[in-house]
Amino acid sequence: PPSDLAQRFSHSASAPARPSFGIAFDIDGVILRGRSPIGGAPRAIRRLYSEEGSLKIPFLFLTNGGGVPEHRRALELSQLLGVNISPAQVVHGHSPYRELVKRFKDDLIVAVGKGEPAVVMSEYGFRKVLSIDEYASYYKDIDPLAPFKTWKVGQTDSYMFAKVHPSYDVYSERVKGVFVVSDPVDWGRDLQVLCDILSTGGLPGTEKGDQPPLYFAADDLEYQAAFPSERLGMGAFRIALESIFNQINDHPLKYTSYGKPNPFVFKNAANILGKLIISMYPNSQTSMEVKDCQFSTIYMVGDNPKVDINGAMKAGHPWSSVLTRTGVFRGKDNDPQFPADAVVDTVEDAINYILEKEC
Ligand code: G3P
Ligand code: MG
Repeated sequence: PPSDLAQRFSHSASAPARPSFGIAFDIDGVILRGRSPIGGAPRAIRRLYSEEGSLKIPFLFLTNGGGVPEHRRALELSQLLGVNISPAQVVHGHSPYRELVKRFKDDLIVAVGKGEPAVVMSEYGFRKVLSIDEYASYYKDIDPLAPFKTWKVGQTDSYMFAKVHPSYDVYSERVKGVFVVSDPVDWGRDLQVLCDILSTGGLPGTEKGDQPPLYFAADDLEYQAAFPSERLGMGAFRIALESIFNQINDHPLKYTSYGKPNPFVFKNAANILGKLIISMYPNSQTSMEVKDCQFSTIYMVGDNPKVDINGAMKAGHPWSSVLTRTGVFRGKDNDPQFPADAVVDTVEDAINYILEKEC
């Protein structure tokens, strides 16, 4: 809420003029690889704060990843980077799901992916959520390969939900929506269970029926994790699910994907940055109009040309793109298909470039 933001970031009357630019940072392949900071990220991000630790330059993290609530990610990033990051500065691929709460009111929905997908959805306000781990556990033998698996399924998520939710009658209550929140963990089991839910109108083991709505938080084919070469992302899982579903049904899979490069994601990020700067400079009288929160430039610092740079290009003014070489992109020059406005080695170079240009 703005009051919280105002408290965290408010500046004194003698503070320098409000900046007319903002920055959106991709996380995987720019700030982190796996859980390790890269490219001088902690030192570079600290430059966006004053000596006293208040935010000087409005910025946020705009990632297609997720799987935990935004406030949890903000805490993790604060610890990793050594600065105070607010939950409002974290936009996950699944953050727009909160706009769908009304549509699903009291419907049973299934949340898929690593981390705590059901906790994420529940915190957004969805009332009847089961993680796919918990949902699958109701159906004996739904995964014929389960006896061969040596791992245990998402204890935390299921455990938390067993405590706060009544147990649903999943054998008679249809699943009305499926939300892929983060990268699926057990692809084999999830492909099977999702084909069951989506082919039967939300009631596995029964006749074919209308497909319930299916949402993906993002559509990244590949992304940069800790391994030296790219890893398969949610978009790869979507391709697998779609091709299998289309083979076993006589109608194609319908779905909606969120995340970058959708222009609405960038518009939303610009609005958040607008609110952030108002809370940083509540009494400011600069040339920038508060009412329309206009920035002269918002920089997207990303590693994935197809996703980050393409998205900034599609979003148009005031977006400008900076491509780093710490993730998916490793080229010498610019990306031929989605050329960025600037190409640099690391996020630290990106911040140097932006601050030199703007300050
Ligand atoms: O799973 C995360 C990945 O798809 C992308 O994350 O931060 O590079 O947008 P990011
Ligand atoms: Mg990335």
